[in-house]
Amino acid sequence: MASIPPSVPPSTATRILVVDDEPGIRQTLAIAFRRQGMDVVTAPGVRDAIEALRQNPQPFPLVLTDLVMPDGSGIEVLTAAKERSNATEVIVMTAHSTVEAALDAMRRGAYDFVTKPFSPAELTALAQKALEKSSILLENQRLRAHLSRLEPESGSDIFGTSPAMAKVAEVIGKIAPTRTTVLITGESGTGKERVARALHERSDRAKKPFLVVNCGALPEALMESELFGHEKGSFTGAAARTLGLFREADGGTVLLDEVGELPATLQVKLLRVLQERKVRAVGSSAEVAVDVRVLAATNRDVEALVREGKLRQDLYYRLNVIRLELPPLRERPGDIPRLAERFVRRFASELGKDVRGLTPDALRALDAHPFPGNVRELENMMERAVALASGPAIGLGDLPAQVSGLSASPAPLLSELPNEGCALDDVLGEVERRLILQALERTGGVRKAAAKLLGVTFRSLRYRLAKHGLDTGAGADDDDEGEGGVAVQGARRELSPRDARR
Ligand SMILES: Nc1ncnc2c1ncn2[C@@H]1O[C@H](COP(=O)(O)OP(=O)(O)OP(=O)(O)O)[C@@H](O)[C@H]1O
Ligand SMILES: [Mg+2]
Repeated sequence: MASIPPSVPPSTATRILVVDDEPGIRQTLAIAFRRQGMDVVTAPGVRDAIEALRQNPQPFPLVLTDLVMPDGSGIEVLTAAKERSNATEVIVMTAHSTVEAALDAMRRGAYDFVTKPFSPAELTALAQKALEKSSILLENQRLRAHLSRLEPESGSDIFGTSPAMAKVAEVIGKIAPTRTTVLITGESGTGKERVARALHERSDRAKKPFLVVNCGALPEALMESELFGHEKGSFTGAAARTLGLFREADGGTVLLDEVGELPATLQVKLLRVLQERKVRAVGSSAEVAVDVRVLAATNRDVEALVREGKLRQDLYYRLNVIRLELPPLRERPGDIPRLAERFVRRFASELGKDVRGLTPDALRALDAHPFPGNVRELENMMERAVALASGPAIGLGDLPAQVSGLSASPAPLLSELPNEGCALDDVLGEVERRLILQALERTGGVRKAAAKLLGVTFRSLRYRLAKHGLDTGAGADDDDEGEGGVAVQGARRELSPRDARR
């Protein structure tokens, strides 16, 4: 498989990329590395390799590439791999006649090269060393990113600066040091868990545990022992004694997530813990005192849960002593661009990429997007955009189509014919559209330069821009290169979804 859909979850096995136009070599290496427990993605040529490098959710720690392939050189694969992450190590595989080129690859940052024919064992041993180096580089990057995250931030900034979030930050500042129970509500992804953590970290409990339990995650019997612990042998399978969440968190904070999902009988027991500050383990007759601050969260309409009888009213009163309602991201004017910039800086540092911000068009498009998944959606979108970005700023083309408005339903990028067949014109059209957008980004919107980069005439590029609805409509165009960028910016503004809605 050459191209990987962006939705593939990050695999826990080490995933490497093998690039060679000879199917035999791809197969032999795939077998050898899979035997070592690795996950292997193969690509039959330069183009597919570059697509795989861009699409894989995480940078590959290791790429093995042939040097001479029908559609280009392994040096291009090397360059693209290093561009995505400088922690990616590249081993070049080459025939005797191209050793000169292999040395050139080393000068350009390849880890090493092997000459064909080689034994798989020779290569797997070399790969192991390259992977060690890559993991040290990655670890360094992670540490650096972690340190930058530990930099002190002003309280209001963590939660955004919109009036709604400034208010939330103010309440957090006031109630954090107390042991009041807080009910945190808001749509999914608005930051409820993050707020709970902030309450804990700004209290004198900060050095004690902060534990989160998802109240709907376990069947009732298991949930009871998870929360309150059990004595040895109290039920089938209860081999050893466990303390339970409340006693483990003694002195600290417990967040009961999706509290409305807690089974009715456990709601009664929880109420007792809140009132008496004592827990009784399953199978035990003794109650033990605990000192825990309880926070609860839900993305449901709590009042409706009470009306429907899913959340006991007495428990609701006990939890709802202080209510923090987190507004959806779309109702926090100004927070979207600020959070976007902040996520971009963070992911750039984590992924080791030189991306510094977003173009005004990209920011406008984000600001106009409704973000049903709230901050989590924005965070994931920025991680993907930073991974895909080929320049120092995230542009419209790095955002999902439904945000950028560039194409409603892009055809898939294919390099192998799927079993069910494909719509060839759509697939080719999508490849063309993407390459044109990238060329325009790279030339700062100067269409003449973009045409040259794409190896087509200026006329032909104009025709294609019109075909994809990317035309500026400007007549004279960029005969004067200096004005080229302006012309395209005009076009982008036309394309931005916010303007389309106006
Ligand atoms: N103000 C913020 N600044 C930076 N990151 C944030 C902010 N708010 C939320 N996030 C990030 O967004 C993601 C979702 O936040 P969180 O898990 O707290 O949401 P939630 O409201 O608990 O969602 P759910 O209801 O789905 O459990 C997390 O990765 C969190 O770090
Ligand atoms: Mg949550």
